[in-house]
Amino acid sequence: MNVGIIGAGTMGSGIAQVAATAGCSVVLYDNSAEARQHGQEKLGALLTRLVDKGRISPGEKQRIRDNITYAGSLKELSHTELVIEAIVENPEVKKAVFSELEPHLGHDAIIASNTSSLPIAALAAACRNPERFIGIHFFNPAPLMKLVEVIPAIQTNPEITKKALWLMQEWEKHPVEAKDTPGFIVNRVARPFYGEALRIYDEGIADIPTIDWAMKTLGGFRMGPFELMDFIGNDVNYTVTETVFHAFFGDERYRPSFTQKRMTEAGFLGRKSGRGYYHYGENAPNAEPVQDPVLGQQILDRIVIMLINEAYDALHFRIASREDIETAMTLGVNYPKGLLAWGEEIGYGECVRRLDALFDEYHEGRYRCSPLLRKLA
Ligand code: NAI
Repeated sequence: MNVGIIGAGTMGSGIAQVAATAGCSVVLYDNSAEARQHGQEKLGALLTRLVDKGRISPGEKQRIRDNITYAGSLKELSHTELVIEAIVENPEVKKAVFSELEPHLGHDAIIASNTSSLPIAALAAACRNPERFIGIHFFNPAPLMKLVEVIPAIQTNPEITKKALWLMQEWEKHPVEAKDTPGFIVNRVARPFYGEALRIYDEGIADIPTIDWAMKTLGGFRMGPFELMDFIGNDVNYTVTETVFHAFFGDERYRPSFTQKRMTEAGFLGRKSGRGYYHYGENAPNAEPVQDPVLGQQILDRIVIMLINEAYDALHFRIASREDIETAMTLGVNYPKGLLAWGEEIGYGECVRRLDALFDEYHEGRYRCSPLLRKLA
């Protein structure tokens, strides 16, 4: 299959590698010669590392490299059957690229965007034939992360959705189908992991290392919320939260935290800037967690119940199927178990009791129980 990728940055290069590994012939377009050069060098170095580790053979490396050609003009994508766009997260820039691209493509070609936060319907509307447009959202790093969210817009032809789901399986990904709503599945359901941890910290209930300790040691999460925010970058994580908050018309459930905003404003972005919630580098002055099992359990219970509530609300609003919500959170963000199953394990009655206790304490819509959870209880 002939595939076009637009944008040779982090995501575009990763998606190109996935498609080339699956045997597709890929044309990778970027309007910056420097980005094309950099992308090509980075891919070369990455494939060499894979060969050194014995994950792929030198022949396989050559085959993947040969399957990707770099282009400096959109015209060079004219023979492709699927184009995936992964350029800057700016709707106007993306729309301009789609309008320029479309006349070069054949009638049957599919156009997809890897956007994390823009409405697919709005991007599709920039095309003359919006029925061929769909969201195909990979996770970073694309070659390693199995999950792909496939998001049809209201304009998308159902046949295109079927084809995209099938194709992602062919590329050895695990596709899930999500409704075109803010954050799709993962970036919506995961919000309380960060938001509630920040809230616990803001209220002085526990310090940062203690919250991370509780989530990892008692909860089985691979990283604590603050470690993860430092890893993602506070600027990136804050922007996602703010975007989701506004996209939900200011629903207080998604309200960002001043703590994270100030961290971003101060340039304490996390690992990439050497300082975030933690200090990085040798002899970094980081505090030890207070390993109090009672406090730890309270922290874990509060964050997990908010995640469970979000997952049930996503199911209530049919954002995705039960199975896809579970898959998305275990494969997309490596949660130790599916949140719907976790709620069942705790017991619906107990879930409702915990949420109502938070609501009684704060009287904020943030803590409202999902109607589905209440119905099940
Ligand atoms: P990036 O900044 O690494 O790469 C963007 C590339 O697009 C750059 O090489 C740039 O030269 C190129 N570009 C910009 N404007 C262009 C134009 N008009 N025509 C052609 N090329 C252009 O960005 P990244 O992180 O790869 O993100 C790309 C998209 O993927 C965004 O929509 C982002 O929301 C989404 N995404 C990002 C994830 C991540 O973790 N970085 C995860 C999932 C989705």
